[in-house]
Amino acid sequence: MHFPSSINSKLPNTSTTIFTVMSALAREHNAINLSQGFPDYNPHPLVIEELTKAAKGNSNQYALMAGFMPLREQIAEKISLLYSAEVNPETEITVTAGGTQAIFTAILSVIREDDEVILFAPAYDSYAPAVELAGGKAIFYDREAPDYKIDWQHVKRLVNQRTRMIVINTPHNPTGTVMNAFDMQQLEKLTKDRDIVIVSDEVYEHIVYDGVQHQSILRYPKLAERAFVVFSFGKTYHCTGWKVGYCIAPQNLMSEFRKVHQFNVFSVNSVAQVAFAEVLKRKDLYEELNTFYQKKRDFFRSAIQSSRFKLLKCEGTYFQLAAYSRISEERDIEFVKRLTRDFKVAAIPISVFYRHQVDSSIIRFCFAKEEETLKRAAEMLVKI
Ligand SMILES: Cc1ncc(COP(=O)(O)O)c(C=O)c1O
Repeated sequence: MHFPSSINSKLPNTSTTIFTVMSALAREHNAINLSQGFPDYNPHPLVIEELTKAAKGNSNQYALMAGFMPLREQIAEKISLLYSAEVNPETEITVTAGGTQAIFTAILSVIREDDEVILFAPAYDSYAPAVELAGGKAIFYDREAPDYKIDWQHVKRLVNQRTRMIVINTPHNPTGTVMNAFDMQQLEKLTKDRDIVIVSDEVYEHIVYDGVQHQSILRYPKLAERAFVVFSFGKTYHCTGWKVGYCIAPQNLMSEFRKVHQFNVFSVNSVAQVAFAEVLKRKDLYEELNTFYQKKRDFFRSAIQSSRFKLLKCEGTYFQLAAYSRISEERDIEFVKRLTRDFKVAAIPISVFYRHQVDSSIIRFCFAKEEETLKRAAEMLVKI
């Protein structure tokens, strides 16, 4: 269809996401897909069983707008248990079509024309377009390899009267870093006495390594009272395709969130919600996730140890960053294409997570894969 010339794109700088591009390229070249963040194994049999049970039962019509109540109650219980925070399932929890929708809805429900939103690059690629569609302006703080540390004094310099929101993500995609208590205290200081809302993207809450505790914003009451906190069942239960997650926020923010949610989603997949209400009772399924992924991280790292890639630290998430400057001087986008084409392993270039052009020479591998898949990929990677 011809795009009428009188209509200007609302997102002129946005094209098809790199995840779609690299997954398509991986299929085209029959390459092992370590690019997009999804597992190549199925959810636990119990998760499938509960879904089947729900579909066969009486759960196939619209769920409540804010989510199936028994699920919201289970979520509230989990939040209390893990983060010692009491949230009201009636007014402070909304089930969403995955984390991405929760982020989009939170941003849209608060941001107005010319509001500024501070984002930390490299950033998950949905944040900036959501800000811009809402009429806001994305202000980037660039984190730098190899540690990607946040200098809070520097962040403070980006804050002004127009700053309405800060989006954080911990554990962090793509860097694999996790925020610590000091970061949270700094964020608390920075937002104190200011009308700044926080979106805290915590979709990898259960994937933190080496005994480190996930610093959910919900552990910090002064931050939680101004925050939308976003979670994803897809990441926790190996079912990214089901697209179910949830958002937690204090009542005043949540009621604005629901005004948007009810008109762009209305309600979320009822069958999956009924299933998750049961699945959440099995605490072992999420408690064991750290160990499960730490084993994969260690396996993958040691399998490519002898390669010419330089591995960066991985404290959380199921992503491993690797610097390739000993291998090539190509730009990362060119390098991952060649890697897919010639070595049959697909990865994600890090530069796409920045708004400005960066010369990173770093790529991201997803290790949420069967050991056999990781082994095959590693055999190729050590040959480069
Ligand atoms: C940082 C981050 N936030 C949000 C999401 C989206 O989660 P969901 O699949 O539940 O929409 C992802 C998925 O890759 C992610 O990496």
